Amino acid sequence: MSAYLRVVGVSKSFGGLRALNDCSFTTTKGLITCLVGPNGAGKTTIFNAITGFLVPDEGHVAFQGTSLDGFSPQQVVATGIARSFQNLRLFTDLTARDNVLVAMPGQAGETPLGAIFRPLHAARATAQRRAAAREVLAHVGLADGADTMVRNLSYGEQKLLSIARLLATGAELLLLDEPTSGLSGAALDRVMEVLRGLQTDGKTLLVVEHNTRVVQQIADEVVFLHQGHVLAQGSPQEIITDPALAEIYFGGVI
Ligand SMILES: Nc1ncnc2c1ncn2[C@@H]1O[C@H](COP(=O)(O)OP(=O)(O)OP(=O)(O)O)[C@@H](O)[C@H]1O
Ligand SMILES: [Mg+2]
Repeated sequence: MSAYLRVVGVSKSFGGLRALNDCSFTTTKGLITCLVGPNGAGKTTIFNAITGFLVPDEGHVAFQGTSLDGFSPQQVVATGIARSFQNLRLFTDLTARDNVLVAMPGQAGETPLGAIFRPLHAARATAQRRAAAREVLAHVGLADGADTMVRNLSYGEQKLLSIARLLATGAELLLLDEPTSGLSGAALDRVMEVLRGLQTDGKTLLVVEHNTRVVQQIADEVVFLHQGHVLAQGSPQEIITDPALAEIYFGGVI
């Protein structure tokens, strides 16, 4: 099967620190790939390199055969890739719906002049966008919280909202940076269920994940990153049961 996303030999240094060191891996369309590795391994940095938030010193990224070299974050989104942030980056003083609306691609009829000269058209377009935002929220189980201020949502709901914002972009490849961190019990199960649902809908996911149980339950493939370099790519079972990788990850504690 041909690679959907292809990362080839990406390196990036910050001063004397080599955050990414000849990093190479691929993902396959329709699969959930989990990106694992110790703190500081370079997981967020490779997300930044894929999505145009930083320019690699060396190496290339291609999506569906098209090179993303030199693409801005906006240009990367336009190719069909969206990413979430480890620290969520939500607008806490806006409602859940408004957070989704700002992530949706622009549509005709929303310019100030359009609102004046074609008010009916503008009103219809706004109503359509609000309905689409509600649909996206319903997809992650947040329809009832659409008009709730984000700061009044639980942490688990905020994590779901950050996934809804990815969906709102219409992207088909979703990069999620620790979507379950800080969650446990029902909130954790809910996020896992939503991620699996996205796969059923035909999305492809690349997920940074620290929780081994989550990796075992959702991953089709696992990429193991250490000191900016991919040490292994394989099935969850292959990666999790590899004693050398466990030693690196847990310092031999398991
Ligand atoms: N903008 C930056 N400037 C300087 N150093 C950076 C920058 N971004 C990342 N680093 C460093 O690069 C290394 C990799 O960081 P990165 O955030 O990618 O790790 P990570 O695998 O996402 O870790 P975590 O699991 O803690 O989120 C770390 O040593 C980090 O301190
Ligand atoms: Mg990180």
